[in-house]
Amino acid sequence: MKKVRKAVIPVAGLGTRVLPASKVVPKELLNLVDRPILAYIIEEARAAGIEHFVFVTGRSKGAIEDYFDHQVELEAQLSAKNKSDVLNALLAELPREGEMSFVRQMQPKGLGHAVWCARDIIGDEAFAVILPDMVMDAEVAALKQAVEAYDKVGGNVIVVERVPHDQTHQYGVVALESQEGRLNKMTGMVEKPAKGTAPSNLIVSGRYILQPEIFGLLATQEKGAGGEIQLTDSMSRLMDSQSFHALEYEGVTYDCGDKIGLLRANVAMALKRDDLGEAARRALAPFFV
Ligand code: G1P
Repeated sequence: MKKVRKAVIPVAGLGTRVLPASKVVPKELLNLVDRPILAYIIEEARAAGIEHFVFVTGRSKGAIEDYFDHQVELEAQLSAKNKSDVLNALLAELPREGEMSFVRQMQPKGLGHAVWCARDIIGDEAFAVILPDMVMDAEVAALKQAVEAYDKVGGNVIVVERVPHDQTHQYGVVALESQEGRLNKMTGMVEKPAKGTAPSNLIVSGRYILQPEIFGLLATQEKGAGGEIQLTDSMSRLMDSQSFHALEYEGVTYDCGDKIGLLRANVAMALKRDDLGEAARRALAPFFV
């Protein structure tokens, strides 16, 4: 089986849930402590062996491309001032040359359409999709857990997690053949099921390993939930001819497209930092007496 080398990262969304913070700064660049959300996403993808990142961007997302390039003047100033620690931290975030591609989703037609926009760059190989709103903190990177599962079972692997039953209508929800351990064969999935109709409380949580045949289905996919072209609907069709497994990953998810999720992620990422954890704990303590 060929290695999963490429990841599609859809970043065209408006970030309405975190406006006005996302008015001029793409929501994917909002900060977690002192790094943008995307820095954590790239780190996770690298840990999973990803070698090429395909960003599906939209209008007003140009800052993302700039973030992953040199800022010549700033670097020169830091160098002149002998601020080598800061400069090194800055340089460490840069990609290797040529390992990022940017394609434009010209109309907000939905996640399925965004992924389809990456088809030419992905070509004919299995690939990952990472939804960057969902920051996953895990001992073994969440996408690495998915790749390891894929190496065992092949086909398509979807990372899932449990949510309270009254929240399932906000997500894609999966149905399983049986539930033994964390990796199980799927029998169906539905995008944003009406309240009380979800097949389980296991939601599609934003990491996927997919086969390239998905692109042919996305090309003809009708609009689904919310009037959008949904990735879930094409995956559901692909399930007729290919296997899908759901992996309940080990870790904690922070939905950074949401105000409280973003706040939680900031606190969690600060507390786990070797250089800042203790200071963060002291700074936060007065809020909890
Ligand atoms: C998307 C997917 C959905 C998934 C969710 C996770 O929905 O369509 O299946 O459960 O991300 O965040 P969206 O958040 O774009 O409405």
